[in-house]
Amino acid sequence: MKWEIFTVALLLSSRVASFQVPFKLSSLFSNSAPQQQQRHYTAAAPDELPIDLLQYKEDIVIRISYANDEKLKKYILGANDISYSKWGRNNRLQTIDLQINADNLIRLLEEFPALQYEMMIDDLPQAIYETYPVDKQQAIAQDVDFHTTTEFFFREYRDLSTIDSWLNLLQATYPDVIKVEEIGQTFEHRKYNVVHFSVPSEDIDHQDKKTLVITGGVHAREWISVSSTLYVIYELIQLYESFPNSKVLTKLDFLFIPVSNPDGYEYTWTTDRLWRKNRQQTPVPNCFGIDIDHSYDYHWTKSSDWACGEEYSGETPFEAFESRIWDNYLNETNAHHVISGYIDLHSYSQEILYPYAYSCNQQPRDEENLLELAYGIARSIRLQSGQSYQVLPACIDKDADLLPDLGSGTSLDFMYHNRAYWAYQLKLRDTGGHGFLLPSKYIVPVGNEIFAAIKYFCSFILSDDR
Ligand SMILES: *[C@@H]1O[C@H](CO)[C@@H](O)[C@H](O)[C@H]1NC(C)=O
Ligand SMILES: [Zn+2]
Repeated sequence: MKWEIFTVALLLSSRVASFQVPFKLSSLFSNSAPQQQQRHYTAAAPDELPIDLLQYKEDIVIRISYANDEKLKKYILGANDISYSKWGRNNRLQTIDLQINADNLIRLLEEFPALQYEMMIDDLPQAIYETYPVDKQQAIAQDVDFHTTTEFFFREYRDLSTIDSWLNLLQATYPDVIKVEEIGQTFEHRKYNVVHFSVPSEDIDHQDKKTLVITGGVHAREWISVSSTLYVIYELIQLYESFPNSKVLTKLDFLFIPVSNPDGYEYTWTTDRLWRKNRQQTPVPNCFGIDIDHSYDYHWTKSSDWACGEEYSGETPFEAFESRIWDNYLNETNAHHVISGYIDLHSYSQEILYPYAYSCNQQPRDEENLLELAYGIARSIRLQSGQSYQVLPACIDKDADLLPDLGSGTSLDFMYHNRAYWAYQLKLRDTGGHGFLLPSKYIVPVGNEIFAAIKYFCSFILSDDR
């Protein structure tokens, strides 16, 4: 951490009368492995850079503690006129991570002089730079060996066209099992694809199989959720090759949406790595994007965030193209009759969230069982990788009791209430050292722990007749 530089910059600012440096770069970040050596972005020629990195030059990411300070918490989570971007939250530690520039941090400190914070990312453009691939793997040819290509594929995060070509190769290699289906088009006319994974079996009719739905990439910048969804598909294919008659495969169907926000995802590769929403037009001319996860029609309320904000819900439920496509698909296919489980992958903070998100006053219908499965998932992750994932109700994570609109309109609530028996939102690694900018060396370890979680999920729902 380059503390000195940052501190000096702040001390030089005439607006700081007295400034206390809140040290305590504690054990919080101790489980983040050392960074791979990579050159600094300022040493690269501008046309070698994936996007304009100087747009982040003024910003840092800090962790603020709001312990025992409801006023501060409400101020930071709600609408105010200091500009920053909310990253992750940790309810247990009572912290929130903010991306903010020095001027706005000073304004925040003026408002809350006793504010406690720690530096999380002091060189944001560099942390962003390091998440883009060193080895570009463009447009995978369709006549290459699937396994060799795939090993390479998971070394780095991949852009939309590379992901599409990998999925095509997957389908071409396993035509009996994999079917990629376009179920709609986004605002920017990209394909909205779902991936069916269904092993034909003699004794069970396809219609009678339970379906597990796994989605990633709802929030564009949460790249690890995209790679993990793809990795689970790959692990299932390997299971199929070794044990084609395993119960998980013969009794269950899978439906994956690896990139649930194609326009937003593409935008993170071409323009802004930290974009969250989709990219559709809003009532405000220069503001784009609806937060898809605030768009579902179950206890939907309009967000207090304005159209330019990162949690903008749209003006009406299902206004986001992607949520509407999905709802329409479920209506038309009747697929929901057999959806047993729904798992929506996000990042970061290592949490397993169960319904409801919109309010802590509504009990889920089967809380004991939901908890039992959630703790089983957490345990299977810990046995796989040693990582701990916290289990909690989504309303707590979203602070819906503090500001109700923060937890409304989620796909978690909608799917749980209307469509799926079991539903969870999983927030993947890490707990804050890298946040949304988890280095690519974690793609495989996180993929493995999430596959362990899915395997557990499968055996749980197969173990009885729910
Ligand atoms: C799906 O069906 C529900 C219930 O009939 C309806 O309210 C909703 O508008 C439908 N969704 C779409 C996208 O047509
Ligand atoms: Zn998310």
